[in-house]
Amino acid sequence: MKKKSFGTSEALLRRALKVTPVGAQTFSKSHRYLSGSARPCFIDKGKGARVWDVDGNEFIDFILGLGPITVGYNDPEVNAAITAQLAKGITFSQSTALEVELAEKLAEIIPSAEMARFVKNGGDATSAAIRLARAGTGRDMVAVCGYHGMHDWYVGATPLNAGVPESVKALTKTFEYNKIDTLDKLFAQYPNQIAAVILEPCQGDGPENGFLEAVRASCEKHGAVLIFDEVVSGFRVALGGAQEYYEVTPDMTTIGKGMANGMPISAVVGKRELLDQINDGVFISTTFGGECLSLAAALKTIEILSRPDAFDKIWRVSSKLRDGAVELAATKGLADIAKMWGLPPHAGFMFSETDALSPTDLLSVFQQRLLLEGILSLGINNFCLAHDEKDVDIHLAAIDKALNDVAKALDANSIDSILQGPPINPIFKRN
Ligand SMILES: Cc1ncc(COP(=O)(O)O)c(C=O)c1O
Repeated sequence: MKKKSFGTSEALLRRALKVTPVGAQTFSKSHRYLSGSARPCFIDKGKGARVWDVDGNEFIDFILGLGPITVGYNDPEVNAAITAQLAKGITFSQSTALEVELAEKLAEIIPSAEMARFVKNGGDATSAAIRLARAGTGRDMVAVCGYHGMHDWYVGATPLNAGVPESVKALTKTFEYNKIDTLDKLFAQYPNQIAAVILEPCQGDGPENGFLEAVRASCEKHGAVLIFDEVVSGFRVALGGAQEYYEVTPDMTTIGKGMANGMPISAVVGKRELLDQINDGVFISTTFGGECLSLAAALKTIEILSRPDAFDKIWRVSSKLRDGAVELAATKGLADIAKMWGLPPHAGFMFSETDALSPTDLLSVFQQRLLLEGILSLGINNFCLAHDEKDVDIHLAAIDKALNDVAKALDANSIDSILQGPPINPIFKRN
């Protein structure tokens, strides 16, 4: 790829910073998450697995909008479904058949789904699930493990909790993935007080020693509602999400991101007795819950992802990247520094700390090289149906060079002479 300038992106960033906090509407899409000299801060268009920035630079995109793109950018079939609906109307005064069809489809493909409530963002769905669990149990406390969006009940338990009342913070407790004793400790410490256990079912290298089954059993024993937050894993690791892949069924599930190939829709789905509370006192209702372009896009996206070879292809292509990257790190003697984690459709290197360098330093050096080679990645890679083996070959060639840069930084105990611009400067650090 021949690099052009990033002048238009830079000029837009200067304008954005005057009128937009962090220069972007989403933290993780801001300039602070890209490093070095080749940062495409503003995107113009996408097609398949590729995007072009406002300066005309082309990238193979492994961020995919932070997950929403599961088929591919600007997909002709999804676009046709959206435009056909656009010709009929976007939002109406009563319900449409689309709402019923999508709720029925989710009940068919997601093991825990009996009923569905549509909202817009992942955080809307997780907040709705927590309210339903609190109403259903008559309890107030929640146990969390993972990231669950921007609302008070969750961010109160994170370092970025300014503005959240103390009384709300006190209701949320965290436990650790793959450490069932940390959850059982909470149940012992707060007997009959925990309404819900919410967790991202896929974290790191996945559940060990029957962790998800043990969480399921603890929730049953202590009368808490189990919620899988599948906003990331839903429609990415399997059509029915991590619960299909790991064969553990929660009481409720939250989905969002990948369900409509980029259109804004999310949902809480789950047991009838829990969702039925919306008929009787639990307030979960929004103006745009039945917005039709997103419903039409979701139905078409699910139809495409249901085709027999869809997830086979995503797993085949993504496994080639995961395996190839692990091999490159091992060949270069960097296996201890660059450790791969995640299921192939959502996997990447986690860098270890050294005496002189932080994981973010090393990721910055690594990512700068990927950007220079035309790969858009935050380290963790998302895959869609439009990625193919050739894209992976290009990505692996870039990783080869990027790991060489990491090795140079390790030799020098410094990133100063390698990084040609700012390092990654994350806003939100998970607990
Ligand atoms: C696991 C998980 N849950 C919930 C959310 C919140 O989704 P949204 O940003 O759409 O509100 C996210 C967002 O990244 C997420 O990763």
